[in-house]
Amino acid sequence: MKTILITGSSRGIGLELVRQLATSSQCEIIATCRDPESSDELNDLAKTYPDKVKVLPLDVESETSIESLAKQLEGHSIDLLYNNAGILDWRTIEELEAPVMERIYKVNVVGTMLVLRSFLPHLRRANAPLVVNVSSRLGSISLRGNTQLGGAIGYSASKAALNMLTKQASIDLAADGITVVSISPGWVRTDMGGPDAKYSVEESVEKIIRNTEGFEPKDSGGFFGEDGETIPY
Ligand SMILES: NC(=O)c1ccc[n+]([C@@H]2O[C@H](COP(=O)([O-])OP(=O)(O)OC[C@H]3O[C@@H](n4cnc5c(N)ncnc54)[C@H](OP(=O)(O)O)[C@@H]3O)[C@@H](O)[C@H]2O)c1
Repeated sequence: MKTILITGSSRGIGLELVRQLATSSQCEIIATCRDPESSDELNDLAKTYPDKVKVLPLDVESETSIESLAKQLEGHSIDLLYNNAGILDWRTIEELEAPVMERIYKVNVVGTMLVLRSFLPHLRRANAPLVVNVSSRLGSISLRGNTQLGGAIGYSASKAALNMLTKQASIDLAADGITVVSISPGWVRTDMGGPDAKYSVEESVEKIIRNTEGFEPKDSGGFFGEDGETIPY
């Protein structure tokens, strides 16, 4: 049975990943979130699927929290890691302040790096380990060239950095057989995406899961859209 670790499972895409995976697959899901006690919907899922869903605390801003979970799960293998936790900020270059940008990087980039690094021993125990970093088209430098969409400068830069992290980690971890990809979930109706977004969270997560099932080592280092298309860095 596969073990899947998901960060940021309290709501939005992370919560829906837990819901759909628990309903449809034979797997054990380690559904992590900052504050398990207040994550009611996640706890309801854990009650409905007690053999499949374990809710554990993980704040990706805290190295202590990450290391403590990695230690708690020592000796377990992790087949699939969804680095999903993320924060958005729409500020432009003139509005953005250093502490805001630092926090965006801390969650979206440093947090992802620390989670990946801390769970390498667990991934190495799996047969065909896969890491899916949830990025964004806003992190594609090439696409920005096409659309000239401004704003969200800290977020976009963080997702571009996340994409580089994917690429470099895919090279560093190739010898271990660990596949690392970035995906964009599309524009999704969550707290982050807002009510006007293109996809319901159910539609987006169906696509994410379908794509994830098809990823192979040859895809490592790639950046993929919700329909499986390659997104240019
Ligand atoms: N929605 C979109 O249109 C869209 C588009 C492109 C990419 N994405 C990416 O998709 C991912 C999920 O987004 P979403 O739409 O589901 O956002 P969301 O509804 O705002 O949910 C974000 C999740 O991340 C968690 N999180 C934030 N900071 C965290 C931390 N320090 N440690 C652990 N968890 C933390 C939140 O937990 P709390 O409940 O504790 O705050 C929440 O579970 C993000 O990486 C985002 O950048 C989303």
